[in-house]
Amino acid sequence: MGPMLAGRVAFVTGAGSGIGRSTAIRYAEEGADVAVLDVNGAAAADTAAAVEALGRSAVALRADVSRAAEVEGAVRQTLAALGPVDILVNNAGLLRDATIRNLSEADWDLVLDVHLKGTFLCTKAVAAGMRERGRGGAIVNISSISAKIGNFGQANYASAKAGIVALTKVTAREYAKYGVRANAIQPGMIETPMTRALGEERLARNAAETPLGRLGRPEEVAAVALFLASDLSSFVTGAVIEVTGGRYL
Ligand SMILES: NC(=O)c1ccc[n+]([C@@H]2O[C@H](COP(=O)([O-])OP(=O)(O)OC[C@H]3O[C@@H](n4cnc5c(N)ncnc54)[C@H](O)[C@@H]3O)[C@@H](O)[C@H]2O)c1
Repeated sequence: MGPMLAGRVAFVTGAGSGIGRSTAIRYAEEGADVAVLDVNGAAAADTAAAVEALGRSAVALRADVSRAAEVEGAVRQTLAALGPVDILVNNAGLLRDATIRNLSEADWDLVLDVHLKGTFLCTKAVAAGMRERGRGGAIVNISSISAKIGNFGQANYASAKAGIVALTKVTAREYAKYGVRANAIQPGMIETPMTRALGEERLARNAAETPLGRLGRPEEVAAVALFLASDLSSFVTGAVIEVTGGRYL
């Protein structure tokens, strides 16, 4: 089997770190050129350099996914640097955990804006090009198992991630006739800078509660994001795939 994404252009948000960075690199290993978007410009540049080190083209884009003008500018830059986008990965995200009693309106808005509105804005901007071009495409949205279980202390995050599931299904229905597929991944606890901040004890407890007995690695989410971006999943749309090591079945 040859490279699975040869000749394709991928646009990955939050690609400066963790799951997004792994996905950008995995796609490049399979022949894709990658637009690396992150609100942290230095981190985006670092991932773009890793993509180029694999012999692929990359463009580093400093942008905030929750701002329409920045997203539209990033998509225009991608078109100019790499050509039309075939694959969109909506991955950018952050945590502002607090119980409902303590959760501020600002932290509710921030988390909903980055995850849910950001996914909407990037989908709107990128899917328009996929539709016009008429060569289909694949959209991979990163939800979370938190959306299924309603994690304690994550009213903002779980609501945003559940919203992403609904948005994925609407996207799948609205764009199916243009050959664009949209699917979501729900990771469990994956070792990244985001979760390392939770502390050793909580991570160890999490690993013990997971049937496969450990935390996941970003590469293991990237592998599923590769499946959903590639032709291997040509009849899969509107689906939600859990990547949790069997936790919360
Ligand atoms: N790590 C896990 O256990 C886990 C589990 C379930 C879901 N997820 C989801 O996976 C995605 C990636 O998480 P991660 O663990 O790799 O986190 P991470 O913190 O390592 O990476 C997230 C990246 O998103 C970027 N980002 C944040 N806000 C942004 C914005 N407004 N615009 C553009 N970029 C922005 C950050 O700068 C960072 O580089 C997130 O959507 C997260 O909610 C992670």
